[in-house]
Amino acid sequence: MQPVELSKNVYWVGAIDWLTRDFHGYSTNRGTTYNAFLIIDEKVTLIDTVKAGYRSDLMHHIRNIIDPKKIDYLVVNHVEMDHSGSMPAVMEEIQPEKVICSKMGHKALLKHFHREDWPYHVVSPGEEMSLGEKTLSFLETRMLHWPDSMFTYLKEDEILFSSDAFGEHLASSERFDDEVNQDVLMYEATKYYANILTLYSPLVKKLIAKVAEMELPIKMIAPDHGVIWRDNPGKIIDAYSRWCVHEGNGKALVIYDTMWHSTEMMAKGIAAGLEDKGISYKLVNLQVNHRSDVMCDVLEASAIILGCPTLNNGLLPRMAGFLMYMRGLRPTNKIGAAFGSYGWSGEAVKLMNTSMNEMKFTLVHKGLKVQYVPEHTHLKECVDLGQSVGQALIDQRDGKEVEAVI
Ligand code: FEO
Repeated sequence: MQPVELSKNVYWVGAIDWLTRDFHGYSTNRGTTYNAFLIIDEKVTLIDTVKAGYRSDLMHHIRNIIDPKKIDYLVVNHVEMDHSGSMPAVMEEIQPEKVICSKMGHKALLKHFHREDWPYHVVSPGEEMSLGEKTLSFLETRMLHWPDSMFTYLKEDEILFSSDAFGEHLASSERFDDEVNQDVLMYEATKYYANILTLYSPLVKKLIAKVAEMELPIKMIAPDHGVIWRDNPGKIIDAYSRWCVHEGNGKALVIYDTMWHSTEMMAKGIAAGLEDKGISYKLVNLQVNHRSDVMCDVLEASAIILGCPTLNNGLLPRMAGFLMYMRGLRPTNKIGAAFGSYGWSGEAVKLMNTSMNEMKFTLVHKGLKVQYVPEHTHLKECVDLGQSVGQALIDQRDGKEVEAVI
């Protein structure tokens, strides 16, 4: 890969990670990129570095443009190790005049690298800094998704360097949104939001309102992962505006695990009830779907129906793990219901209901459990459950109040 020019004297100099398949529990099936950007001006500026192990890619790209020792400023938009792991070695090589970061970024850098001697320059929100012909300004984006996170805006070129926000885990030889398959791009952008930002949706909503109020002209959004939005930055901003309010798509998601296929039979009965009401649905067996892909569907679904048999007075481990993961991300505005087969104790349905209540889902059915293997009458009860959820979705679509039954 060669450096790529975004606009005059502004370059992508990052690294492509074709190998990674796990990002702290998030499956990155298409790899990722660690984007860094170089601005050539009177003050030569590098925005972000890359993960440890990718330093030579970064330095090679920089050297193709300029002697790295000529870099004056290093901007650290975000301290997480995928963007800063190479920083100690990069600092040795470039020895910049300033390391520019937010107040929380300064604290995080000290806690990560224990280097009091680096030339930190803490910027305040809204502060501007001239590089010569070009000007940077800094926008604090605390908790999107770390306390230190900030955006850097290049005024004359109207480029927003947005750190993790608006990114995707997508390795590709292409650097821009208009060069890649749009379905793949939006799937990976959705998955990224679902697994990294869902929890911070109220802050995303405020940030989008603030950026709109500032009337910042944005020609390009350059995140730290994936492609640069140059053709249609409005597309990803519109998507974030939808995702941050957890707007449902009217569909139902039946997420389940099964031991001897009894719970799976129930899932199919529920699906038949949803069909009766004309509701689109998806059956998601946790044995063959990774939790981070499931969260992608959860983000957009209007109803979540959970199914699990009882094991050792609790849940099967995959459902327990998924529930913990989903609860951490706190999706909202969901209609919910639970089901499962059991042998003798049967706690699973109650546990799933409790979990969904804690997430403030609207439970429209008290839950359905069947001992051992369902027969025809049990499957009819499953159809009824599916119809109840389907009717609640229809009522919600028609603007009627949907009330919880438990
Ligand atoms: Fe891409 Fe939060 O690091």
